[in-house]
Amino acid sequence: LVLVVDYGAQYAQLIARRVREARVYSEIVPHTMPVEQMLAKRPKAIILSGGPQSVYAPDAPRVDAALFDAGVPTFGICYGFQLMAQALGGQVTRTGRSEFGRTVVEIEAEATKLFAGLPERLTIWMSHGDEVTKAPEGFRVTGRSPGARVAAFEHPSRPLAGVQWHPEVVHSQHGQDVLRRFLYEVAGCRPTWTMVNIVDETVEAIRAQIGGKRAICGLSGGVDSAVAAALVQRAIGDRLTCVFVDHGLLREGEAEQVERDYVEATGVSLKVVDAADRFLDALAGVEDPEAKRKIIGREFIRVFEEAARDIVADAGAHGESVDFLVQGTLYPDVVESGGGEGAATIKSHHNVGGLPDDLQFRLVEPLRALFKDEVRKVGEELGLPPRIVWRHPFPGPGLAIRVVGEVTRERLAVLRKADAIAREELTAAGLDREVWQFPVVLLANVRSVGVQGDRRTYGHPIVLRPVTGEDAMTADWARLPAELLERISTRITNEVPEVNRVVLDITSKPPGTIEWE
Ligand code: XMP
Repeated sequence: LVLVVDYGAQYAQLIARRVREARVYSEIVPHTMPVEQMLAKRPKAIILSGGPQSVYAPDAPRVDAALFDAGVPTFGICYGFQLMAQALGGQVTRTGRSEFGRTVVEIEAEATKLFAGLPERLTIWMSHGDEVTKAPEGFRVTGRSPGARVAAFEHPSRPLAGVQWHPEVVHSQHGQDVLRRFLYEVAGCRPTWTMVNIVDETVEAIRAQIGGKRAICGLSGGVDSAVAAALVQRAIGDRLTCVFVDHGLLREGEAEQVERDYVEATGVSLKVVDAADRFLDALAGVEDPEAKRKIIGREFIRVFEEAARDIVADAGAHGESVDFLVQGTLYPDVVESGGGEGAATIKSHHNVGGLPDDLQFRLVEPLRALFKDEVRKVGEELGLPPRIVWRHPFPGPGLAIRVVGEVTRERLAVLRKADAIAREELTAAGLDREVWQFPVVLLANVRSVGVQGDRRTYGHPIVLRPVTGEDAMTADWARLPAELLERISTRITNEVPEVNRVVLDITSKPPGTIEWE
């Protein structure tokens, strides 16, 4: 276990992922955690992350110098590097020579643990206002840049090292090599965090948790719940029942896909609830996005609850009980909600709604320690089809939040056709994995004039919203090839008579969100 101490920048998650890419298990802890508590986790190494503060700010987060006396190998990055310098008796100064973005660092590779074998000049990514002006006593300065006379240091005999730059970002040359060298050479970690081990250990843990009892799982059609269910199924077989609620807001072929592909791959027992009428009736006349979400959330809970009751009653009739509910909670959710036990509750409300007290389930969250890309790898390891594993995220409220305006059956049908064309062409162009998500949105309240076959038309626009990104927190609009966009536009306007205009959303997130509602 490697602990990544989070000093409040968005980099901690990235560092934790990079450590895992080096096949070493990592966890993020807040910088407010007392050192004894960190040490009680028996970490093989500790990484202090970057952060937005100046070490001189009165309320700046600190590091307890006791950490360095404990003998645990420690690596400081950016703010963490400065904290380390300061705590060990070096000097950090506000010199006014800040560096933001790309710069070149000159390193001394020879006879260093961190840089051996690397080129002498690295183009790397920096983001700092203060500067380490004197390394702590006994440390060797191993890197310099135009804005940082001490850009890296390491101790010749103690397992302590740090860099001013961000080795975890892709713009830093040999960044992953530097992290690996710290993990393997300085800290003596071994690369044992592999997909096979993860699957085996998780399945074992699920078995131990559920024992001989039964569990249910709400499938959303997305990769998280699919992989969570597949893991549980591997652990307890047909004592797992899955529920899939078809709320009538799915994309073309989606319900069938879940039924066919998923059941075929896993043999899981699946209960499909067709609740389209119920949802669409409840949504009639509603235009406000938040109101739509609330209605869908409410109906979802009710439908799921009824299905769960049926399953519980069924099991009861055979003298069994259903005690566990499987959730696809991921590690970023756990971290974002403070990493405590409360995280489970928050996500369960988000996913299947707060289940009522008279349906008491204990939660099984087999993906709690994993990032999305790891979940996909686990899915592949379990033999789930690529169509499920590489599926783009799709929001719980479905197409309802992609019809801007009131949701009607007719409008959903229009959007479904346009969406199917866009997805089909993206897949045909081989670009599914290049984009994070590709929402297609119908502006049902907007009409514009067009001309089709010499006739004036007064139809609706379709918005294409392809985005790239590593998670849904930030995103950029995807630069899809013009020929692909042209094909999608031509096909939609030819094949969907209600649509006479196709527009491309070129807004990043922030300021735009990925979805339009
Ligand atoms: P936004 O639009 O906020 O979306 O940039 C971020 C990510 O979350 C998805 N999304 C949802 N997922 N229930 C979900 O399960 C929801 O209510 C919901 N709203 C947005 C969205 O598709 C994107 O991946």
